[in-house]
Amino acid sequence: MDIVFANEKELLSLYPGASFEEACASLKTECGLAAITRSEKGSIILEGDRAIAVPAIPIERLVDATGAGDLYAAGFLFGLATGRDLETCGRLGSLAASEVIAHVGPRPLRPLAEFAELHGLL
Ligand SMILES: Nc1ncnc2c1ncn2[C@@H]1O[C@H](COP(=O)(O)OP(=O)(O)OP(=O)(O)O)[C@@H](O)[C@H]1O
Ligand SMILES: [Mg+2]
Repeated sequence: MDIVFANEKELLSLYPGASFEEACASLKTECGLAAITRSEKGSIILEGDRAIAVPAIPIERLVDATGAGDLYAAGFLFGLATGRDLETCGRLGSLAASEVIAHVGPRPLRPLAEFAELHGLL
């Protein structure tokens, strides 16, 4: 595996009986890079010995969580493919996810590049 994206429940399903911390430690030994999403608590990026906590972007109201995980991955992978550091990748993921969960439907209603620029991420 090159990269694992998982929410907390998916991570724990890989290591039955393990705590969140134990599951993260196990995943680190099997995979070079992982992003574990934790809804409003943001995400944890695991790479080698590092665990980088990335905050979620606060939203006024959660309308429809569909697509949160996919948009997080989209933002993260955009950052990775364009050579950004891992924290910025995670922030791009948080930002893309925050756009789609504030309205109904999993597709962004505004250009995400503009949104990222507004947040000083591009
Ligand atoms: N209530 C929220 N407020 C702010 N950001 C959120 C919230 N819920 C999710 N997010 C953002 O979306 C990312 C992915 O969310 P989550 O961990 O719920 O993934 P998921 O369970 O795969 O979602 P889904 O399967 O519904 O698409 C989080 O890391 C966070 O950045
Ligand atoms: Mg998901």
